[in-house]
Amino acid sequence: MSDILKIGVLVSGSGSNLQAIIDRIEDGTLTAKVACVISNKADAYALERAKRHGIATHVLDHRSHAGREAYDAALVELLRSHGVQLVVLAGFMRIVTPVLLEAFPHAVMNIHPALLPAFPGLHAQHQSLQYGVKITGCTVHFVDEGTDTGPIIIQAAVPVMEDDTEDSLSARIQVEEHRIYPEAVRLFADGRLTINGRRVVIAPLEP
Ligand code: GRF
Repeated sequence: MSDILKIGVLVSGSGSNLQAIIDRIEDGTLTAKVACVISNKADAYALERAKRHGIATHVLDHRSHAGREAYDAALVELLRSHGVQLVVLAGFMRIVTPVLLEAFPHAVMNIHPALLPAFPGLHAQHQSLQYGVKITGCTVHFVDEGTDTGPIIIQAAVPVMEDDTEDSLSARIQVEEHRIYPEAVRLFADGRLTINGRRVVIAPLEP
């Protein structure tokens, strides 16, 4: 295993979180390598972003696999072929199965656009506006078998404004997503994350 952490990023859409991670790697804030980007959608803009930075890309269409497990087995094979050590879900619109989670124990992360455990699942920003919360945010967490239920690594709070639409709120949340996702990957890369039951303990920086 080389010293530099190899990450595999799974995407389905725009890839702005992927971009934030690439940017932090390129400006030297994050020591890691994006070994590959895999999308279940051929037209995901995230693939263009990856190619622009010379990163290997793959399209793995879920429709050409017999089921979720078969799809995840193909994902595992691809990720392993790139030597991936940490799997980063960044707008990947698929439910992952134990096939992926058992292949990468405690090494699959996700970002969710709400302060979990509030508003898990789809359309979190819409759910937040409907509920009328005054503060929402985003959460980076390890993935477990539930939907958005895994141990929380970092959260950031974002105010909800009176005149917010789903778009304006999403944009404000994304500013924080782009800050905390690379930070969570950095903590992982530096070996500072320990999972203790539901809690993720962040080790202090060595003096
Ligand atoms: C983000 O809002 C993230 O919280 C959610 O999906 C969105 C992905 O955005 N899981 P992007 O593709 O990284 O721009």
